[in-house]
Amino acid sequence: MVFLTGIRIAGTGRYVPPLTADNNDFAAFLDTNDEWIRSRTGIVTRHISDGEPSWHMGLEASRQALEAAGIAPEQLGLIIDTTITPDYSTPATACVIQRELGAVNAMAFDVNSACTGFVCGLDMAARYLATDPALSYVLVVSNENLSRVVDYTDRSSCILFGDGAGACVLERRQGLYSAYMAADGTGASSLYANGNRRTCRFATGEHTYPEDTDPRGDFLRQDGKAVYRFATEAMPRAVQQVLDQAGLGTEDIDLLIPHQANLRIIETAAKKLKFPMDKIMVNLEKYGNTSSASIPIALDEAVRSGRLRRGQRVCLVGFGAGLTLGAVLFEY
Ligand code: UT7
Repeated sequence: MVFLTGIRIAGTGRYVPPLTADNNDFAAFLDTNDEWIRSRTGIVTRHISDGEPSWHMGLEASRQALEAAGIAPEQLGLIIDTTITPDYSTPATACVIQRELGAVNAMAFDVNSACTGFVCGLDMAARYLATDPALSYVLVVSNENLSRVVDYTDRSSCILFGDGAGACVLERRQGLYSAYMAADGTGASSLYANGNRRTCRFATGEHTYPEDTDPRGDFLRQDGKAVYRFATEAMPRAVQQVLDQAGLGTEDIDLLIPHQANLRIIETAAKKLKFPMDKIMVNLEKYGNTSSASIPIALDEAVRSGRLRRGQRVCLVGFGAGLTLGAVLFEY
């Protein structure tokens, strides 16, 4: 889908909790080591929430994004929060953030498309902006508290993930906007977490929550190799799709910001696209995989460090549980 009405990023923000865990911290309680984690993933350290709620991380990132955009919370017409680790099943995290910001004129809802969440939320924001002339500003915020769902006895997955949040304020602008979103539910069992599966048998008078037979059954489970295969095939395909739709080539992208899951995945995707690594934003060594927060955290770093400048073309590409896939291409 290519829109004539594009988007402008008015401001970005990010937040990570202060506590960090490096690879050696994992080696202290798991059969793993710094060399294995670095060489297989590129990750060196990650931030872990010490009980701080997911919404609070999102709020901090949102405040920064509003400040950078130079707008008041009342000017927001919509807040889209993306998370797979909300603090509540309901209300939506976006509503809690709306209340805390005092964004009294904003509609608010959450989106769950896992690590593709931010790209999906941004695309929804673009579509709202394209079709609703009364809407001036949209906040897209991604906050993830993955340490709550990670199984710290599973060495093949727990070393990958970190906590954090990223946000951006979007407004309407005439210009390039190309997007591609896809899902393949046949891969749903490749990566899942069962946070809400405990049942209260209220109807039978058992107002209790029966103990799970598997005490770690609610935690995140993944088939790492299946996700790896999907990611390395899907990311180049999504980038090529947004380029084809826009009639552009890889040389027209100034900065590519992929989901920060694994350096090997990014390098393989870059090779397939014949895209130079020096035009790819990589910061996973500091944060690990923060699911939907990874792209907006990297986006904020790129903006604040001057790596992404006004007028440059940026492509964001995400993949994740679902399985889901999404890419957007626009001018910063
Ligand atoms: O947002 C999306 C989230 N998910 C992903 O991005 C996951 C994508 N997949 C991956 O990134 C990779 O598949 C992993 C990093 C998860 C695993 O890397 P791999 O190269 O596919 O390793 P593997 O699963 O083939 O395991 C190789 C060996 C195994 O030992 P044996 O069977 O060869 O003796 C594992 O048991 O490495 C072992 N291993 C570890 N060793 C030390 C697995 N995890 C660890 C560990 N430390 N943390």
